[in-house]
Amino acid sequence: MLRLKGAGKTYPGDQTVLLPSDLIVEKGEFVSIIGPSGCGKSTLLDIIAGVNSPSTGSVHYRGKDITNQTGHAGYMPQSDVLFPWRTILENVILPLELQGTGKDKAREEALSLFPQFGLEGFEHHYPSMLSGGMRQRANFLRAFLSGRDLLLLDEPFGKLDAMTRLDLQKWFISICETSGKTALFITHDMDEAIYLSDRIAVFSPRPGRIIEQIPVPFGRPRTEHILTSPEFLSMKQKLLNLLHSENKSETR
Ligand SMILES: Nc1ncnc2c1ncn2[C@@H]1O[C@H](COP(=O)(O)OP(=O)(O)O)[C@@H](O)[C@H]1O
Ligand SMILES: [Mg+2]
Repeated sequence: MLRLKGAGKTYPGDQTVLLPSDLIVEKGEFVSIIGPSGCGKSTLLDIIAGVNSPSTGSVHYRGKDITNQTGHAGYMPQSDVLFPWRTILENVILPLELQGTGKDKAREEALSLFPQFGLEGFEHHYPSMLSGGMRQRANFLRAFLSGRDLLLLDEPFGKLDAMTRLDLQKWFISICETSGKTALFITHDMDEAIYLSDRIAVFSPRPGRIIEQIPVPFGRPRTEHILTSPEFLSMKQKLLNLLHSENKSETR
């Protein structure tokens, strides 16, 4: 469904943040990208979303070159993108409005999803009146409402406390599994990457490159029981070794 061919980024002044990278995401797959802060993860996602230009390589979606084009994926950037002066409902219908859907139809479509996203009763609230977890669900609903089959999600649970995070992860898994969406997900949290994904692409420190791609040995539907299984721990050890070995080679 998605294919990166040698996509890399060098900023003026020869600051390479992302080395030419190849990545394939199949339809229905959930792929995580994990790597240390500043290794170019957000840059990579921006390039795929078409909001940042690669210096090398190209992005292909369903066989077509979409480099520098927006609108092919539902995109949830790292920062909270809710406008404080718009209600939650008016915020989440933005992608539909941008696609030219009429306001009434957009509202109707969005409202039907509020219960599933745990936002029922908050349609006409402003973002500042919601908890962090609810705001993230609203950000996610906004990306989801783009109607695109591919979701690009940049550390959506990054700023939440551990309990809220686990609740949201559980909920998120069920939404992804039932909607059949394809997802490319960025995180710096190993537990999160293993719990959610079918495959994990491990990045080196800046300038980022994919060190290795590891399949996650758990099927679906997935439950939180895997979190305490021996397979989970050995997977985590594998990730730790990879991330650690790269850190050491960088400082040599
Ligand atoms: N316009 C820019 N010019 C130069 N460097 C930049 C620019 N934008 C981002 N960077 C650098 O690119 C690196 C990678 O950033 P980012 O993709 O956000 O990393 P990550 O998401 O993995 O933490 C960072 O070191 C950042 O400072
Ligand atoms: Mg980032």
